[in-house]
Amino acid sequence: MTRIASFATSGFDLDALHCAMLAAFSDYIVPLQPDADTFKAALSARGFDPEASFIAVDDDEVIGFWNVATRSTKRYLIGSGTRIGHRGRGLASRLGTAAISAAENVGIESFWLEVIEGNKGAERLYRKMGFDVTRKLDCYRFNHPSPDRSSCKLSDFGTVANVIQRYSSWEPTWQNATETISGSKLTSFLHEKGGAIIGAGGLVHQIAASEPSALEDLLAAAATVGSLTLVNVDSADSTLCSLLQDLGAHRFIVQSEMRLSLPNVS
Ligand SMILES: CC(C)(COP(=O)(O)OP(=O)(O)OC[C@H]1O[C@@H](n2cnc3c(N)ncnc32)[C@H](O)[C@@H]1OP(=O)(O)O)[C@@H](O)C(=O)NCCC(=O)NCCS
Repeated sequence: MTRIASFATSGFDLDALHCAMLAAFSDYIVPLQPDADTFKAALSARGFDPEASFIAVDDDEVIGFWNVATRSTKRYLIGSGTRIGHRGRGLASRLGTAAISAAENVGIESFWLEVIEGNKGAERLYRKMGFDVTRKLDCYRFNHPSPDRSSCKLSDFGTVANVIQRYSSWEPTWQNATETISGSKLTSFLHEKGGAIIGAGGLVHQIAASEPSALEDLLAAAATVGSLTLVNVDSADSTLCSLLQDLGAHRFIVQSEMRLSLPNVS
């Protein structure tokens, strides 16, 4: 018989969760098969909360999961999945219901997640649970045509994070939030006219500037370190999105950010 349990009290460890994740994501819309260390590091950086996370167990095997993070009065769905042979039996719905009522019981105000456009099954699941789309997010990959760092200088994380907060018109998603990335070794540049970029030469987590030309210079500076990937750019940021498209960036994924507002039950 299938039982639903909080991960904290389930008796299972992160290796069992990793195995279940690899199986559930083996037919995912994009390739996603991290090794155990990468999986554990990603959970930890995002603030994985074992008590807020739920698993489905059958025959001593994890067959479904809702991996959840907590920060202050917010919760975030890091990932949900059901092993292929166990789908369509309502497991994800039961896991979601358990995670949402656990959040309500401790006074959480909102539950957040992202879903890739085209993942119809998952989107229907989240809508059924009461989540609504709050914004669209674009993911880009590109090799900058003319890398150049002449108007920027390398800087430390604390300095650039403050500068970005000053100029940014939108909040980064959970995976790019300052709290998530603060423990990582990331290359960052500061622009002389005001602006900064975090994650040069790889995954760009945050970027903002005082003016479009500075934004352009920051991308050129970051590209001197390597090719760039930007995940979860707010699609309403037309300045950044147009600039990326003009530079030949390929938009490889569009995501929907979804939120469930929870009633205050205390
Ligand atoms: C999405 C996923 C977690 C659903 O798991 P599940 O245990 O089969 O889900 P349930 O049986 O509880 O179904 C819940 C709802 O999801 C929707 N749904 C699930 N699979 C669906 C499919 N293939 N097509 C359409 N809707 C689907 C339905 O609305 C369903 O509710 P309903 O049967 O009352 O209409 C599972 O398909 C999965 O692991 N997919 C791969 C990983 C993934 O995409 N994770 C989500 C990342 S955001």
